[in-house]
Amino acid sequence: MTLEVVILAAGQGTRMRSSLPKVLHPIAGKPMVGHVVDTVRSLKASGIYLVVGHGADKVRASLAADDVAFVEQLEQLGTGHAVTQALPKLSENSQVLILYGDVPLIKAATLEKLLVHATATSLGLLTVKLDNPSGYGRIIRDEQQKVAAIVEQKDANEQQLAVQEINTGILAVTSKQLNRWLPQLSNNNAQGEYYLTDIIAMAYQEGTLIETVQPASTAEVEGVNNRLQLAELERVYQLEQADKLMTAGVSLADPARLDVRGELSTARDVFIDVGCIFEGQVELAEGVEVGPYSILKNARLGPGVKLAAFSHLEDVTLDGDNQVGPFARLRPGTHLETGAKIGNFVETKKTQVGQGAKINHLSYIGDADVGANANIGAGTITCNYDGVNKHFTKIGAGAFIGSNSSLVAPVEIGAGATVGAGSTITRKVDDNALAVTRAKQLQKANWPKPVKK
Ligand code: UD1
Ligand code: CA
Repeated sequence: MTLEVVILAAGQGTRMRSSLPKVLHPIAGKPMVGHVVDTVRSLKASGIYLVVGHGADKVRASLAADDVAFVEQLEQLGTGHAVTQALPKLSENSQVLILYGDVPLIKAATLEKLLVHATATSLGLLTVKLDNPSGYGRIIRDEQQKVAAIVEQKDANEQQLAVQEINTGILAVTSKQLNRWLPQLSNNNAQGEYYLTDIIAMAYQEGTLIETVQPASTAEVEGVNNRLQLAELERVYQLEQADKLMTAGVSLADPARLDVRGELSTARDVFIDVGCIFEGQVELAEGVEVGPYSILKNARLGPGVKLAAFSHLEDVTLDGDNQVGPFARLRPGTHLETGAKIGNFVETKKTQVGQGAKINHLSYIGDADVGANANIGAGTITCNYDGVNKHFTKIGAGAFIGSNSSLVAPVEIGAGATVGAGSTITRKVDDNALAVTRAKQLQKANWPKPVKK
């Protein structure tokens, strides 16, 4: 049987107190419901149906993809009503997994265990035992301990309220079963809603076996209703990332102070200090050290790269053995060849820095090509922008740019050339030449200082 997945995401999420639909609030930089969709993708589902209602337009815009179909639930009349909206789209003979857009950390392995039970004669129900089951639907079992029904908190009697096994809401059935049961739901209950959970009693009555499965941890089935719960699940997710990294050979100064909001791939003996944030695709090769409070987005760091504290990198490639920072800002299009060095308070953009070249202090180098082993003195600025267009600066191999120089682009400094400190360079400097534009120093001997009147 093929697998189809229905994800319920029509609810309002009032307690988030937000104009963003609840399911779009991010965990690790990605909408909650995006996590659910990605997990489902790993199961190779043939159809993914997202039931949307509140903030439907925003949810559609955020999750639009070839393999996701949207089903609108105009009024939120209950979980059973929500699944009913997707029913006409489902195949005649498929397994159907029902998930929630606000339960983001569910794992594929748990869902696989559940799906085993979605057959013609059984269904799979994900349950957990909680010390405090308050608020959840309770799992009611018969004398043989077979699941017989789910009773919602608001409809439960005292004896039922004492049951600690609860319904996570996640279940695996077949489309045939849904077609049989959903049309029979009524809203004759305490909340006046069409409860999906009522299909359990129907299954029991017709002799369909209800098999329960438990998740590896309760975090997998925790839902988000407010920002406190969102923050809790964010930490759960981040600690999982930290575990994976350490298992893969990364040392973390503190596993509780790391944020991975994308995909971080690492080799052996990487060290990451506290407070670092990784976004997008980041690759760290063997022996890379990331100093505290560094932020890396879409970056490839070759072997032995060392970032000092507060380095900020985006869309960059560092070939290897580079030293960067502290307080360095490498902007999109920066490429450091092996051994190139970037020091403190240096900003680069669209710049290639050749092997062994150094830009050590207080510089802006943009739209430039810096040759191998060039030395860019403190305070050097490439004046790349004329107010309208950007222009290119080429600095040859082994060139030496004296401190506090302005290189007015477009301009070229030849290989082995020297620019005297404090120069403003507007024309080409030839290979091995010296260019100085600074005013001659004036001296007046024994100059009388002004006196206060
Ligand atoms: C539901 C279950 C309960 C279970 C709990 C787990 C029912 C009747 N009850 O209760 O047994 O313990 O989840 O958290 O199913 N939704 C829609 N459309 C609707 C109603 C809900 O899309 O018309 C979505 C919500 O956005 C949410 C999910 O379904 O993502 C669950 O709805 P909610 O109202 O929170 O169900 P509970 O009352 O918590
Ligand atoms: Ca609820």
